[in-house]
Amino acid sequence: MLLTDIINQRRSIRSFSEKEVSDEVLNELLNLALESPSSSNSQPYKIAIAKGATAKAIAGDLQDKFWRSNAINKQPLPKKLFSALTSDAMPDSDFKPILGKYPGEFQKRRVETGMGLYKVLGIKREDKKARDEHMAKNFSFFDAPVALFFFVDPRMKHTALVDAGIFMQTLMLAATDKGLGTCAQGALGIWRSPLDKHFAIPKEYKLVCGMALGYPDDNEVNQYRPEKLSLSDLVIPGK
Ligand SMILES: Cc1cc2nc3c(=O)[nH]c(=O)nc-3n(C[C@H](O)[C@H](O)[C@H](O)COP(=O)(O)O)c2cc1C
Repeated sequence: MLLTDIINQRRSIRSFSEKEVSDEVLNELLNLALESPSSSNSQPYKIAIAKGATAKAIAGDLQDKFWRSNAINKQPLPKKLFSALTSDAMPDSDFKPILGKYPGEFQKRRVETGMGLYKVLGIKREDKKARDEHMAKNFSFFDAPVALFFFVDPRMKHTALVDAGIFMQTLMLAATDKGLGTCAQGALGIWRSPLDKHFAIPKEYKLVCGMALGYPDDNEVNQYRPEKLSLSDLVIPGK
């Protein structure tokens, strides 16, 4: 495929076929992503790859934490505060605080994008249960056969996050080129402890986010194309 076509075709994929991703294909994608630029070639990232039984176990833990924390958030205030202090279901993310409501225009874009997605999924805005169930799917990586987790060394400050983002985009474009689909998932950065059970993560490395990877199926949700900024919103005018 032409690069222009790959860029235009890539969209976040949230429904996958059962087809496995071979180690050969996965390694090819990762080797391509390793061609990414990084600050002074520091490459301050590492990834953990979960497949099969490991992916299932992590998904089980994450979903359990999601539903229990969701129930805690619905409790009246004093009880909620107590549970928040004592429950192992509360977020243990490496990068805190987790953004609740986004600031300014970003929340508007987030809501518009979310509403567009719910429309395709047939979920009504007021149907909190269906929205929660959709959110929960994040934690089983939308049933993708591979879940990737991205870590950076924060001693490299903001450059580590820039470098990890570029790495992720190279990976997502390479995957699109080979007929695979991806969804970057900030949701997979909310709980770190389920990953420590399965991977020997070097202590300096902090979890940024995850990514679902697999072969897209023909579910309509994969056709969703949220609106992007116009050039006039993007480019800062001169004085
Ligand atoms: C860093 C990052 C985190 C994201 N986290 C999630 C997530 O947790 N769940 C999800 O469904 N999509 C997630 N997305 C996908 C975005 O919602 C998506 O990229 C955006 O709506 C634009 O759609 P597109 O990727 O199809 O162009 C994330 C994307 C990025 C780059």
